[in-house]
Amino acid sequence: MSFGLNYMGSKNRIAPELIRKLPVGKRLVDLFGGGFAVAHCAALAGKWRTVLYNDVNPLVVQLVKDALAGKYDEGVFKPEFISRERFFAEKDTCGYVKWGWSFGGNGEKYCYSVESEPTKHSVHNWVVFNQKDKLVTELFGDAELPGCEIQQRYYALLRLRRERLSNGVSREHAEMLAHIREVENLERLFRLRYIGSIRHTPLASKIEVTCADYCHYVHKTGDVVYCDIPYEGTDSEYCKGFCNQTFYEWALSRNYPVYVSSYAIDHPAAKEVWSTRLRVLSQGSAFKRYSTERLYVFNSP
Ligand SMILES: C[S@@+](CC[C@H](N)C(=O)[O-])C[C@H]1O[C@@H](n2cnc3c(N)ncnc32)[C@H](O)[C@@H]1O
Repeated sequence: MSFGLNYMGSKNRIAPELIRKLPVGKRLVDLFGGGFAVAHCAALAGKWRTVLYNDVNPLVVQLVKDALAGKYDEGVFKPEFISRERFFAEKDTCGYVKWGWSFGGNGEKYCYSVESEPTKHSVHNWVVFNQKDKLVTELFGDAELPGCEIQQRYYALLRLRRERLSNGVSREHAEMLAHIREVENLERLFRLRYIGSIRHTPLASKIEVTCADYCHYVHKTGDVVYCDIPYEGTDSEYCKGFCNQTFYEWALSRNYPVYVSSYAIDHPAAKEVWSTRLRVLSQGSAFKRYSTERLYVFNSP
């Protein structure tokens, strides 16, 4: 199960463990909510009565709001293929383009290579619009995809692809089929839809969404404050303008515990609560790399 969006620095993989480590209370406050993974997982877990998701970036906040409102649902949204040109033209004004179509959810680089883009484009149009062009016909002959639901058609495409590969194909076709081991933009769409499915449950009224700098947060009794800050020494786009030391001073000056995720916090008042070793996901690298995710608390209870 995936929580939240495809977002660089997402806590998707560790969200269930993370929220188990946080104390109970009335409301979970995810102050640096980003791709919504922690707030999403917290809402589903039901450990807190309500969940506040906040981020300073209006584009990601709007994307989360739209997903929660069902803007990307089946029958509502027919995704057009976003080309490389369109990605660069729209990524700074549309959160769906920025995170739905960027490499690793970094919001900056286009998700497909120049070589794979034509194949991804062709199969996208087949899955979404039932348009079979020359390239798809060359790869899949007269095969059809079942139904009209995008997700059902997508999984049928992946099955067909495996069948083609196991039956033996030319080298050229094998290369093209390798490009569609997954169609990332569609998998991201399914994540947006999974967020949207919340609105059919009683959880919908329990999620608040705000867009503000962390320093404007107003504490309420019973709040459990979690901060997934931009990590020290990393250079993501969302780190710009963020000062870790100023944040640590802010956290320390609160009269309640502030839980903070990081690889390492260089501050004597930060107490480590939990850690876990994680495989770093990096495409194309032959070497396995690991990092340690840590949870700290300032003003330990
Ligand atoms: C590591 S990411 C959070 C990832 C998120 N937990 C997830 O699982 O997707 C850090 C987030 O902090 C946000 N941010 C940066 N400066 C901020 C500030 N001053 N106040 C609130 N949010 C801020 C960024 O926009 C970014 O989304």
